[in-house]
Amino acid sequence: VYVPTREDKFSFGIWTVGWQGVDVFGGAVRPLMAADRAVRKLAELGAYGVNFHDNDVFDFDATNAERDERIAAFRKALDETGLVVTTATTNLFGHPIFKDGAFTANEREIRRFALAKVMRNLDLAAELGAKTYVFWGGREGAESGAAKDIRAALDRYAEGLNLLSEYVIDQGYDIRFAIEPKPNEPRGDILLPTLGHAIAFINELAHPEIVGVNPEVGHEEMAGINYAHGIAQAMWHGKLFHIDLNGQNGPRYDQDLRFGAGNARGAFWVVDTLLAGGYSGPVHFDYKPPRTEDDEGVWASAAACMRNYLILREKAKAFRTDPEVQAALAASRTAELSEPTLVPGETWRDVRDASVDVAALGSRGMGYEHLDQLALEHLYGVR
Ligand code: GCO
Ligand code: MN
Ligand code: MN
Ligand code: MN
Repeated sequence: VYVPTREDKFSFGIWTVGWQGVDVFGGAVRPLMAADRAVRKLAELGAYGVNFHDNDVFDFDATNAERDERIAAFRKALDETGLVVTTATTNLFGHPIFKDGAFTANEREIRRFALAKVMRNLDLAAELGAKTYVFWGGREGAESGAAKDIRAALDRYAEGLNLLSEYVIDQGYDIRFAIEPKPNEPRGDILLPTLGHAIAFINELAHPEIVGVNPEVGHEEMAGINYAHGIAQAMWHGKLFHIDLNGQNGPRYDQDLRFGAGNARGAFWVVDTLLAGGYSGPVHFDYKPPRTEDDEGVWASAAACMRNYLILREKAKAFRTDPEVQAALAASRTAELSEPTLVPGETWRDVRDASVDVAALGSRGMGYEHLDQLALEHLYGVR
């Protein structure tokens, strides 16, 4: 049990296991990991797919020959292991040229360069069969008030995504976009800070049908937001194109813990929500093995992401099928919420003068404490 199979559709960013541990206070603690090594090791662990930034595979300033060579090695590892490229994205944050943003940099030439960089990697993504292309705008933001005209920045953000949508459509690529919100880090304040901001923004785009979201557990929790509720709403909008699963302990720096660590109770509801909503995309992990880990620790943490998902999936299913839970759900009238408030044919006229037993309804308890205790007991492993 808890052994991942391809049907589980687990995928990892190449940059996750490949993270060398460089942070604001210290340099690399682990050697560089080539993308093809990450692919082979992830395949051994039972993953199904990978996600990559252009510069996870080849350097920012690679010559064409170096680029081709790195891509060939990556592709060979994919072919030999059968791992799928589910997703791709662009590194629009590492190089100094992006210090003030990519699509929303004040300098126009930088915006044009960023768009070219994305188009080039979209070609590679399509070639490798990726179906989703992620946009995490880590550098789209500001540290100070006057630096950025936010409305102009949003115009440029939309202009960029519209241009790239046209590119994908004109090229006939079977690729959809997924915007990944984050409130801060690396910028002091990042544009499209939460799921809600991103979904509202998508509705203003020229091709909203091909643009959805890629919410990350830690990013919403950094903003103090309930991630399970967030993905439920994204599914309600038909916009949950992809997910970045990891762990976080409340509002603080982006911890990128392995999935299931940090807010464990939250993780239980995340899995329950994905199952209930019928999410069928890749179950993608975006975490960082802590700097304390050596190579062995890296693979232990990657395996743990998948194992924790499988453990929580079993627990969520056991919770939902437990007769005592079902009775508690009924006692809490949870199914009644799915009944429309009006019956067909009724209008506001029928409720305008509605009279209910105010005293009885006001004093009736909801039984949620009992229900939640049952959930916790499943999670704690005593049921
Ligand atoms: C972060 C982000 C990134 C993005 C990735 C895709 O906070 O570092 O989550 O990991 O997901 O860079 O572009
Ligand atoms: Mn993160
Ligand atoms: Mn992410
Ligand atoms: Mn991250």
